[in-house]
Amino acid sequence: MHLLLVILFFLEAQFCVQSSDSNSPAGENLATNGLPFPWSKVRLPSYIVPVHYHLLIHPNLTTLRFNGSVKIEIDVKNNTNWVVLHSKNLKIFTATVLDEHEAHLSDKVLSVLEYPSHEQIAIFSPKILTSGEKYFLYLEFGAPLSDGFYGFYKSTYKTKAGETRVLASTHFEPTSARMALPCFDEPIFKANYTVRIRRGPSHIALSNMPLEQTVEIGNGLFEDQFEVSVRMSSYLLAFIVCDFRSVSGMTATGINITIYAVPEKWHQTHYALEAALRLLEFYEQYFNILYPLPKLDLIAIPDFQAGAMENWGLTTYRETSLLYDPDISSASDKLWVTMVIGHELAHQWFGNLVTMEWWNDIWLNEGFARYMEFVSLEAVYPELKVEDHFLDTCFGAIGRDSLNSSRPISSLAENPAQIEEMFDTVSYDKGACILHMLRNFLTNEGFQSGIIRYLHRFKYSNARNEDLWDSLIKHIDLKKMMYTWTLQKGIPLITVKRQGRKLYIGQELSPIYVRFIHFTVHNTSLSNPDVLTLDEEVDWVKLNSDMNGYYIVHYDEEGWNALTELLRINHTALSFKDRASLIHNAFQLVTAGRLSLNRALDLIGYLKSETHNVPLLQGLGYLQSFYKMIEKRNIADITHNLKTYILQYFRDVIDKQSWSDDGMVSDRRLREEVLSLACDFDYPPCLEKAKHLYNSWVESNGAISLPTDVSETVYMVGAQDDSGWAYLLEKYGVSMCETEKSKFLSALISITYFIHLLLQLGMDGTLIKTQNLPSLIYLVAKNPVGHFLAWDFVKKHWDELVEKFPLGSFGIRNIIVGTVTQFSSTEELREVENFFKSITEQVSELRVIQVATENVEKNIMWLSRNLETMRTWLQQRLN
Ligand code: BES
Ligand code: ZN
Repeated sequence: MHLLLVILFFLEAQFCVQSSDSNSPAGENLATNGLPFPWSKVRLPSYIVPVHYHLLIHPNLTTLRFNGSVKIEIDVKNNTNWVVLHSKNLKIFTATVLDEHEAHLSDKVLSVLEYPSHEQIAIFSPKILTSGEKYFLYLEFGAPLSDGFYGFYKSTYKTKAGETRVLASTHFEPTSARMALPCFDEPIFKANYTVRIRRGPSHIALSNMPLEQTVEIGNGLFEDQFEVSVRMSSYLLAFIVCDFRSVSGMTATGINITIYAVPEKWHQTHYALEAALRLLEFYEQYFNILYPLPKLDLIAIPDFQAGAMENWGLTTYRETSLLYDPDISSASDKLWVTMVIGHELAHQWFGNLVTMEWWNDIWLNEGFARYMEFVSLEAVYPELKVEDHFLDTCFGAIGRDSLNSSRPISSLAENPAQIEEMFDTVSYDKGACILHMLRNFLTNEGFQSGIIRYLHRFKYSNARNEDLWDSLIKHIDLKKMMYTWTLQKGIPLITVKRQGRKLYIGQELSPIYVRFIHFTVHNTSLSNPDVLTLDEEVDWVKLNSDMNGYYIVHYDEEGWNALTELLRINHTALSFKDRASLIHNAFQLVTAGRLSLNRALDLIGYLKSETHNVPLLQGLGYLQSFYKMIEKRNIADITHNLKTYILQYFRDVIDKQSWSDDGMVSDRRLREEVLSLACDFDYPPCLEKAKHLYNSWVESNGAISLPTDVSETVYMVGAQDDSGWAYLLEKYGVSMCETEKSKFLSALISITYFIHLLLQLGMDGTLIKTQNLPSLIYLVAKNPVGHFLAWDFVKKHWDELVEKFPLGSFGIRNIIVGTVTQFSSTEELREVENFFKSITEQVSELRVIQVATENVEKNIMWLSRNLETMRTWLQQRLN
């Protein structure tokens, strides 16, 4: 007899409404020329609104500079002499204001004041700009193509023949459009864009919209003019000049989809085309709104900091996020490409069509796009079993949200670094998890019709958190309920005590008081939610079925015993999601000091008979992470015993794996993980097999195809001797497949002796591209010997790193989290804190530093609480 409960509860708390204006004291702002700057806020005044940008841009791929001009049609809402807009690192050559007939308002070229700390410029018009009138602002500007990954930047690639070629591409989100053109760079200022691009004859130019016409303008130059865009925010504008090759196809509704890549990677573009066609068709149906542009491009850019970007009609990708080589890429690589495309295409509606009013609500973009990855893939590619990964998304969110340094989903963000930091696991993963909870509550149909309503209501415009809730459903106060999830941080903890037929249910979310309002059991509403009387005696109770709710459940002693016993004798009585979530909840409670490690380890004792990859990898993952932490602390006996235990205990699963690409995606993923672990733990049969495969691969000079899912493990083993390592480095230099290169790189990193060299190469950016430096540093830090090396490297090169990866960016955050969270002693914690204190104030304000240091505190606490328990537990199991 059993009972699965579905609980929905509401948290009650006090909220502060965050003000969106950040004032610096008036009168203190001086422009670069010493004159007072007329505007003191980080956010632009609202009395001038851009309507239409006419942009002409000419990147010179030889001098690596670009020049441009922009004529911006503006609406004036209040009389003023000043136009304030964004501009960063641009040289402004001319500024003028024209009236609605495009006549100059002044015969003088206007002076431009610059205020770099707010990335703003102000243009003074001698004649008052009158409210209700239309004007044009005309500016000419130029700058070097940016060296990093933001604004209008330079990217390069090498051909097989060894020639280096240059392209120029943009990445604007969140605040870098201002690096490519002077503009009103805030999401609320939606406008139309007409783009013209000048280029040489051997290049093509791309932008959001289809090409309208090309004119030859002399000097061997061509000017491509693109159709007028729909109304959109500045961060979605994009343009590229390159010499790529493409494949195209058309959706059933007549949208032309094209995939672009560097010419020699053209054969890796076909999978993306198929995926994009199918996913775009799915979204048009699901959202019941046609994709509004005539075309959609997906382009793989050789230098890219993030994973991908959803520019309207011209989505950009890191090569590993778009290109797929059937002979080389693994099952996980394929899943990744499909998910990224699913994500960026979802943004064409969530984000592009309806945009958050301000960056505090970026989760409306990213949480939705993350969730739609799962919804779309489940529908379009059921064989990829994307639902196997959804719990990991929530577990990741919970890991962050259970720290004090977490934040509410909607939180204040004003300056560019704070805005960048909003693109984090809270916006993406917690956002997706609470949407999942909501979808279960509203039913699939209710959820879908609600978001269709929301998209229709706010299309070509902007929305806030509350607009979503108001659109979703009418008859209950959804807003009040969902505010509790989006305006306060943290993960609720539900406690369950069973006495006979009575269940006592409590709820905690320290430090905020929370209370049940609603509670359902098999859809029966209960009047008194805190005590539930069951109809009959049951053997066990499991709450939060399939972990559809964003909360953790803690049972009493008997409750945990009953579930442990259930798993032991009949684990399939629970769904795989329930099994995985029990494992997760138990270890989460161990970390919180609420459950003893023994109990959690006993709970996963049943895994010997587990066949589903999700709970199996969940349990194995915990053991592996404890192993890694203890290994770094040089606690020899536990390290040894834990390794022996894992190998003994999971031996059947390991031995069962074939070294092939056979099976379903879930089998393949399990194989990839399990064999990598076995070889990492020096399991002799694994090493032998891998070595054998490596040798045959080398003998064929790379001509034979290794099974794609195990190739990384094979390289890892092969790299262990000098000649094997050197061969891999050589292959790294010539490979034309980025997913393959990333596998070579993790193998190369596993040899401690060469770590310095590789870090140096990553810093240099020629052989190992700068875009891969953050993951390289992280890989080094994961290595038991490398973690000090990685940290020393970060300290030593901090300034250069911040130059490459600006504060708040994915790159710098990955570097910080990747290195710091490897630590688990008080001395290391001090060291980290001192380092971050010693650098500038702006750095210490970064949220990621609090997150990283709190993770170290968590590690320290974990060890002090659990090390002895682990020691004894292992001794008992191994004797
Ligand atoms: N809009 C983001 C790209 C982005 C990230 C812009 C951070 C500015 C700051 C894009 O849609 C995105 O979420 N990209 C992901 C990849 C994806 C699979 C979720 C990324 O870059 O990691
Ligand atoms: Zn996104």
